[in-house]
Amino acid sequence: MFFPKGSCYIYTMISNPIKNIAVLTSGGDSPGMNACIRAVVRVGIDHGCEVTGVYRGFDGLIDADFAALATQDVSNIIQRGGTILKSARAMRFMEAKYRRIAYENMRNSGIDALVVIGGDGTFMGAQCVVEEMKLPTLGLPGTIDNDLYGTDNTIGYDTALNTVVSAVDKIRDTADAHERLFIIEVMGKDAGFIAARSGIAVGAEAILIPETTTYIDDLIDRLKTGWRNNKKSSIIIVAEGDDLGGALEVEKKIQEQFNKYDTRVSILGYVQRGGSPSAYDRLLASRLGAEAVHGVIAGKTGFMVGVKDNEISYTPLLKAVKHNKLIRKDLIDLATVLSK
Ligand code: F6P
Repeated sequence: MFFPKGSCYIYTMISNPIKNIAVLTSGGDSPGMNACIRAVVRVGIDHGCEVTGVYRGFDGLIDADFAALATQDVSNIIQRGGTILKSARAMRFMEAKYRRIAYENMRNSGIDALVVIGGDGTFMGAQCVVEEMKLPTLGLPGTIDNDLYGTDNTIGYDTALNTVVSAVDKIRDTADAHERLFIIEVMGKDAGFIAARSGIAVGAEAILIPETTTYIDDLIDRLKTGWRNNKKSSIIIVAEGDDLGGALEVEKKIQEQFNKYDTRVSILGYVQRGGSPSAYDRLLASRLGAEAVHGVIAGKTGFMVGVKDNEISYTPLLKAVKHNKLIRKDLIDLATVLSK
């Protein structure tokens, strides 16, 4: 049976449909979040629904920091990093009393579905909404870390990778000019996806990630071999969550055992979180934002919507956060061989 556009009300008569979808961004922001918000708004309106923007993540639910979003409110944002809805790490939402306030605020505003864009912490909050409030809720993977199970890429990961590659290529110029060893720290609080792939892409001599134990002796041996082979400059990529510690700690441990190289440290930090999203991230964000609207209208709840092998996938929220997403072993093996 075909329902004409704007038939959100018809669903009301037939299947208790969704009339007002709220959307929020939470946790570490990532390039592409705005493209995702834009898709949720425009596809929601296309389905005849109202779309309510929630500012500052779950804090905005508690503070009823809402605004109706029209199609023109999301004009000219697809190319912008950050999030027009702002983001936060809302510790208050961990307390039941604040969750009750949030629920009342949504109910009083006529909100009957929620789309959250964020990472693991965001999805834990969304799970509370599903379990305690029985509100149809779907999660979209918005984080540069790419550490969510059930999606090949998270929104922002591709852009962050390109940012790191561009930055490290610049650092390699000066490393070569001054014949220095650079230890470069990238983000990924406990996941090495950015480090692993950017390390291969920049031809790093060593890549240190939390998923594999880093043995300082092995690292020193590789540096000594490079030195003997007249390798005058080198790049080590280290994920901030590596077991050996961040870049400053790694530098200290190297210098204690092998100080032939004039060594410098560069911590890329928050530059990885910003910037105009790549074409890939804009497409991913648009696809996922649209699918989240289709999903909640179809009655789906408690899932992360992702893309696996280029097909839309639904993964239970708790599996997305708790089912550790592993870095492909062949990628780690490749990095090891290529960086010799
Ligand atoms: O989760 C995304 C992320 O950028 C991590 O890579 C990083 O460790 C963390 O957020 C930093 O958190 P904050 O923005 O709260 O300093």
